[in-house]
Amino acid sequence: MHVVYLSPGFPAEMPLFVRGLAQVGAKVLGVGDQPAAALPSEAREALADYLQVRSFGDEPAVVEEVRRWLRGRNVDRVECLWERLMYLAARLREAFGLPGMSRAQTEIFRDKESMKQAVERAGLRVPRHGRARSKHEAWQALERVGFPAIVKPIDGAGSKDTWRCNDRGEFERALAATQHVEELSVEEFIEGEELTYDTVCAGGSVLFESVAWYKPKPMILAQNPWISMQNIVLRDLGAELPRPGVELGHGVLRALGFDTGFTHMEWFRTPAGEAVFGEIGGRPAGARLVHAMNYSCDIDLFRGWAEAACYGRLSQDTSKKYNVAMIFKRAQGEGRVREHRGLQELLRRFGRHVASIELTPIGEPKRDWRKVVVGDGWIVVRHPDLQATLEMSERFVNDLLVVAG
Ligand SMILES: Nc1ncnc2c1ncn2[C@@H]1O[C@H](COP(=O)(O)OP(=O)(O)O)[C@@H](O)[C@H]1O
Ligand SMILES: [Mg+2]
Repeated sequence: MHVVYLSPGFPAEMPLFVRGLAQVGAKVLGVGDQPAAALPSEAREALADYLQVRSFGDEPAVVEEVRRWLRGRNVDRVECLWERLMYLAARLREAFGLPGMSRAQTEIFRDKESMKQAVERAGLRVPRHGRARSKHEAWQALERVGFPAIVKPIDGAGSKDTWRCNDRGEFERALAATQHVEELSVEEFIEGEELTYDTVCAGGSVLFESVAWYKPKPMILAQNPWISMQNIVLRDLGAELPRPGVELGHGVLRALGFDTGFTHMEWFRTPAGEAVFGEIGGRPAGARLVHAMNYSCDIDLFRGWAEAACYGRLSQDTSKKYNVAMIFKRAQGEGRVREHRGLQELLRRFGRHVASIELTPIGEPKRDWRKVVVGDGWIVVRHPDLQATLEMSERFVNDLLVVAG
């Protein structure tokens, strides 16, 4: 099994997937834009070969560079788990006649309008929506959507340039603030909780599935720098909270004809208990959610994905043992971290439920949470009981202060 892997060294979690591929016996041929010497050691050690391309910007040129580099070598897969290079990966597959997502399929997973149309055609609930390339089109879309509305980039990420608008004045301001965005999605604002539905699939079957609950909603988090984010992986998918999303997720995967790999869907649960589609990516969730899913079952999905992608199976025991809460801390104050206030007491009370903890060490500069997803701290607690998990998680949110200054 020879796998061309697009960008083994970046972003942060890619080396773990590369290592997973090597662990299941694949020969991994890495393609990146960093010098080989700059690759993290996990990636370097797992690679059979590496090509540094001049730039990922010029896709046809990359295809030619890869073709020359591979000359005569057999390749079975092109894999890419980074959203930004998914079209390029599809182009390489098409050029070399390999299985996996084509460019047309990739578009459905990248373009927030195309995906909603496909999901809607299958009779599943999506927010009312419209695509807008101009102010005029945005106002036309708003006619169908109504207030409250959401304005966001059609291929956005990380809640960037995302605005909630309650009236015409706010809508006007949101359009002014997003003038630099080429194409917008205008949507009905959905009230309620926001959750994920994540899978590893092979041959159109779901081999692993998971639901995580965002607290608070990512948009709120992006606008409120002092809030500690919690992300809770739920153990019991049959429970009332996740169940509608699991059903929706199955419908969405069928509607989109997804075959093999990771998926990451976001959905809303309305106060009436209805699941409404948010978006879906043909890639793993970011923000260390794969780690959290691993902690829920004591498995290694970096390797599990690799096995599914190469051989169509997932042989680890994926039964869920725990609810897992991940908490991201943002330091208070500016400058260097000088205290982990409350930590000792929390560890004394909950230490045996803490699966992992990383805080910006005392004396080091506070991190920029816009650039480093974990911010100034990453804490994972887990417990078979959901209520106990939520209570511990709240304690780490409220009683642990990473203090800078
Ligand atoms: N239709 C909607 N109703 C309510 N909230 C929304 C809606 N669309 C987006 N949001 C909020 O904005 C966030 C970012 O939007 P999303 O479509 O997930 O884009 P991305 O994650 O790619 O930035 C969501 O996580 C959610 O909190
Ligand atoms: Mg999102």
